[in-house]
Amino acid sequence: MIILDGKKISMEIKKEISETVKAIVAAGKPAPHLAAILVGNDGASETYVGHKEKDCREVGFRSTVLRFPDSISQEELLSEIVRLNSDGEVTGLIVQLPLPKHISERAVIEAINPDKDVDGFHPANVGRMVTGFPAFVSATPDGIIELMKRYGIETAGKNCVVLGRSNIVGRPMANLLSRKAYPGDCTVTVCHSRSRNIGEICAGADIIVAALGVPEFLTGDMVKEGAVVIDVGITRVKADNRNGFRLVGDVKFDEVSAKASFITPVPGGVGPMTRVALLKNTLKAYYLIKN
Ligand code: GUN
Repeated sequence: MIILDGKKISMEIKKEISETVKAIVAAGKPAPHLAAILVGNDGASETYVGHKEKDCREVGFRSTVLRFPDSISQEELLSEIVRLNSDGEVTGLIVQLPLPKHISERAVIEAINPDKDVDGFHPANVGRMVTGFPAFVSATPDGIIELMKRYGIETAGKNCVVLGRSNIVGRPMANLLSRKAYPGDCTVTVCHSRSRNIGEICAGADIIVAALGVPEFLTGDMVKEGAVVIDVGITRVKADNRNGFRLVGDVKFDEVSAKASFITPVPGGVGPMTRVALLKNTLKAYYLIKN
C-alpha cells in the first residue's frame, strides 16, 4: 500500500510556483494578487481564508482579505465584486462561502469575472471544463487529479465511484475522471444520499473518491483488494487527547488501507492539494489578466 502524500507533493508544487513568481518579480512585473472577500465571522471560513493568505505569502503572491459584516446587503457585496473585477491590480478573486442567508450565492458567483474566478465556481468555468475548454477547475478535484498524475496512477478504463454530488467536489470530480485525458478515461458512477447498494457499487470500483462528509463512511468490506482510495472528508470528532478532537476522513483508514493499493491520509492528503490548486489557478489567472 502506498500513501498518497499530498503534503509532500503540495510542497513540491509550491516550490515550482514560487520559482515562477521570483522570475516574474525579477522581470520587474507585479506579483499575482489574490483578493478574498470574507463576510461575517464563521470560524471555519476565517481559518480557510487565513490558510489562503499564508499560502499566498509563502509563494510570493500578494493577497488582500476584504472583510464585511453579516449585515452587508447583497447589493453592496455585488458592487464590491464589480469594483474588484475591474481593478487591474487584482488578478484573482474569491468570495468565501457560505454567505449569510439574505445573500444569494448564485448571484455572487455569477457576478465574479470568470477570468478572475480562481475558485472555478462561475458557470462559465464549469461549462468550459465540461466541454474540455481551458477553464478554472474547482480546487479539490483539480488537486486530486494532480495527485493522481504525480503518482502515475493508472486510470484508463477503470471503474471509478465518486461518493457525493456537490458542485464543488463530486460533480466536477466525476466529470474530470470521465474525460478523454490522463488522468481520466474512467467509467464513473456517482453515488449520493439517495443511492441504493452503495456498498456493492463501491466493492466493484478500482478507484473510489469519498466526498460525502460522513466520518468513516467507507469501511473495509466496501472496498476491493487493490483499489485506489481518495478521501476528501475531514471532520473533527471528539477524542481523549490534548486537543480534545481528532480529524477523521470519510474513510475508515485502518480497515481500508489494509486493502488499498494507494490511499490518501487525513490530514495530509487531499487538503494540502486543494490549497495548492488554488495557488495554481491564481498563477494561471495572472497570465490571463496581465496578458
Ligand atoms: N467554502 C468552502 N470551500 C470553499 C472554497 O473552496 N472556496 C470558497 N470561496 N468558499 C469555500
